[in-house]
Amino acid sequence: MANKGKVDALLGIVFGDEGKGKIVDWLAPRYDVVARFAGGPNAGHTIIFGGRKFVLRSIPSGVFDEGKLNVIGNGCVIAPDLFMAEARELEAAGYTLAERLVISRRAHLILPTHRVLDRAYEAAKGKDAVGTTGKGIGPAYSDKAARTGLRVGDIEEDFEAKYRQLKARHEQILADLGFTSYDIAQEEALWLEGVDYMRRFRLADTEAEVNRLLSEGKHVLAEGAQGSLLDIDHGTYPFVSSSSTTAGGVCTGLGVAPGKIDRVWGVFKAYSTRVGAGPFPVELFDATGDTLRDIGHEYGAVTGRNRRCGWLDLVALKYAIMVNGVTDLVMMKSDVLDTFPVIKVCTAYRKGDAVTSTLPYDLTGWEAVYEELPGWQTPTDGLRREEDFPKAFRNYIAYVERAVGVPISIVSVSPDRDATIVRRAAAAMANP
Ligand code: IMP
Repeated sequence: MANKGKVDALLGIVFGDEGKGKIVDWLAPRYDVVARFAGGPNAGHTIIFGGRKFVLRSIPSGVFDEGKLNVIGNGCVIAPDLFMAEARELEAAGYTLAERLVISRRAHLILPTHRVLDRAYEAAKGKDAVGTTGKGIGPAYSDKAARTGLRVGDIEEDFEAKYRQLKARHEQILADLGFTSYDIAQEEALWLEGVDYMRRFRLADTEAEVNRLLSEGKHVLAEGAQGSLLDIDHGTYPFVSSSSTTAGGVCTGLGVAPGKIDRVWGVFKAYSTRVGAGPFPVELFDATGDTLRDIGHEYGAVTGRNRRCGWLDLVALKYAIMVNGVTDLVMMKSDVLDTFPVIKVCTAYRKGDAVTSTLPYDLTGWEAVYEELPGWQTPTDGLRREEDFPKAFRNYIAYVERAVGVPISIVSVSPDRDATIVRRAAAAMANP
């Protein structure tokens, strides 16, 4: 059939915080629909333009573009109070959402008691805590899997009773855990106001709508959240989030068939970061790690926590490319490396006498094995053409491409919109 629509996925492929917000904002004009398929307000997609900074949590990054439909898909979880705050901020900045945003009835709700449960479960884990964002993500997805959750569609009818029932169930679990000193009265009032606020949006069977648009030849960009190594199946379990952040999650989280997926853009940083607990073989505890954090402003967009920093991890990158079927890589924040005389790249892990270049079942106890490359030691954030890249920088790009076998189609050298360099080989791809 001529003019068939397709879905491209834009995914963070390591531990999140790769800078997806900037790229999805840059790519959005090339698509008709931008859709979130997983996660919730644990995400924080930072977009900077016109001297303003926006942090999007649940709302897709296509909202800044007139004429684009934005979808919160069935694979997402949504907190009505936080959604209301986010939407109001955008509306105050002049972006009217009602026409441009549609929310799946099948997406699940995060209740105030889910957030209390998140804290209670973390406290119960003690030193093994995951270091969650505290947004109730795990408990909300647990209810989904246990078939006890509430969905967006539930707010359309007899909601009060359903809410009271699930809340009572949560209170019972909290009492059983001995976690009783919490007070959600204020939060609950705001949350219920948020539920009411959501009713003025279009709540729909977005799965059918997205497929109809595809059959009309429209192009959809599936905007990922978090990163592949935080995927519930493919991440560093149990130190993961609770949704399917990888390419498979696009199919389940939007209701589109695998054959509809075309390009998979894999976004990674030129170095590594991780927030929260869990094994991280490339983590640097020295001054180099501090320098990466300072230059890269590596502090969490949602929680403000220090991000753990290290050199680029090719073992993790190759694994993520495999499970996602990445067709194009997008390298972010390479300018953070501008001052280093030597740049290291992790090519394998070592534990005792064992060495592996494929991702082990459990990363605990593995240490990074590095190769060293010469740094370029010259500012690159002002460059806008690949021809102007210093030789050592071009070598770094070529080295990574050779190691992982996938082209780096886009390089971003500063937060500005125009600092997005589409490399020659990829120019055609950026215009679907
Ligand atoms: P949760 O998603 O709040 O349950 O947190 C689970 C783990 O995922 C924690 O280690 C968080 O720090 C991490 N995480 C969740 N969302 C993000 C994100 O958007 N960026 C980076 N890490 C995240």
